[in-house]
Amino acid sequence: MNNTLLNRRFATIGRHSPLFYEEPLHLVSGEGVWLTDVEGRKYLDAYNNVPHVGHAHPRVVEAMRAQAGTLNVHTRYLNDRVVDYAEDLLSRFEPGLDRVLFSNSGSEANDLAFRMAHQHTGARGILVTDHSYHGHTSFLTEITTGLKTHEPLGDHVRTFHVPDLDEAANRDRSEQEILTAALAEVEACLADLVRSGHGVSAVIVETIFSTEGLPRVPEGYVTGIAQLVRQAGGLVIADEVQAGLGRIGSHFWGYQKHGIVPDFVTMGKPLGNGHPLAGVVTTAELLEEFGARNEYFNTFAGTPVSSAVGHEVLKIVDDEALVESSERLGALIRPRMAELVEARPQLGVPRGSGLFFGFSVFSDADQLHPDAQTTRQLVEAIKARGVLLSKIGPTGSVLKIRPPLALREEHLPLLLGTIEEAVDEVLG
Ligand SMILES: Cc1ncc(COP(=O)(O)O)c(C=O)c1O
Repeated sequence: MNNTLLNRRFATIGRHSPLFYEEPLHLVSGEGVWLTDVEGRKYLDAYNNVPHVGHAHPRVVEAMRAQAGTLNVHTRYLNDRVVDYAEDLLSRFEPGLDRVLFSNSGSEANDLAFRMAHQHTGARGILVTDHSYHGHTSFLTEITTGLKTHEPLGDHVRTFHVPDLDEAANRDRSEQEILTAALAEVEACLADLVRSGHGVSAVIVETIFSTEGLPRVPEGYVTGIAQLVRQAGGLVIADEVQAGLGRIGSHFWGYQKHGIVPDFVTMGKPLGNGHPLAGVVTTAELLEEFGARNEYFNTFAGTPVSSAVGHEVLKIVDDEALVESSERLGALIRPRMAELVEARPQLGVPRGSGLFFGFSVFSDADQLHPDAQTTRQLVEAIKARGVLLSKIGPTGSVLKIRPPLALREEHLPLLLGTIEEAVDEVLG
């Protein structure tokens, strides 16, 4: 490891800026699903969702270069690139979701969606799950439940737990019982928001529940939440920062799998394949209301360069059939992963969807005690063998596998074989 660089980093961006792994990786280049470190060692990237179509995709690089060499200005001028991209992006939503506001990050997108919801409903009350992350602005910090923050939850925030059909505690309960109890909890939160005078502004759900650890939720759960919130006068925000753009395989957007049409869809990470591009999609009515009341302007959001990049990413997703590939590879991986965990009682059943999946690690065969330490060891042992992935969930005990959608079937033996070898080594 390069200690000089590490110390220079500490001396500039500080000690608290997170670094992965016991020994941080010093990366110098990336191509497709491969990352190369300073010593020339190649790693299969099974973690990064931002380089959605692959690291340094030549078409993305060329789109960026060509537009940067022609014109880049903010969006207060007419420019074809920006409108071409907005049209293509919006064509991937249900007819009512037909307006987009660009931003630079997922945080900005969520912040803006809440601001619009607040102005529309006149209420401040927010519902959020009890282990989630939606961004880092001051406003979003007050609704953060899944990451350490010094600030407490806002008075206007109520949290609810996302049920997991595969959890040991739910083994003896029917899916219907679990659903009824989970929706009753949401109802109680809504009633409390009303009683306390905050009213109901919005609920936000990350549609694959990634920070929550990819729980398998009962059929009708998200639809039920949306119905209850709307009955209480609130709006529904689907956070697609992680689940969107075909990550889940079966659908282009995660909310579509749950059968809802949200009032706001917020997007980020994969949209620009690493270029800072994000946004909020909503209805013409909500945009009109907000636009008439506020001059929303965002200097770097949706510039011609960002739009050229975002548009190229969408075209690559189509041309390389990446959504279909995510579904197909997810379907190939699942049974192999099921075999792997079946032979080891302290590993939970495979969870997730498309190319975002994993399994829980426990210290006991009854799967009652999540084992974060063993999960950490697995992540390190997998890295030592040249594959990068991570962990998630409330206790950090779910292995998190989320490669660029550029992953191909030919990479599966390395990915799955490495996980299996590391499991053998760590679990014995
Ligand atoms: C689900 C989700 N929403 C929002 C955000 C915030 O996005 P950004 O880091 O681009 O501000 C993140 C970032 O990790 C996220 O995972």
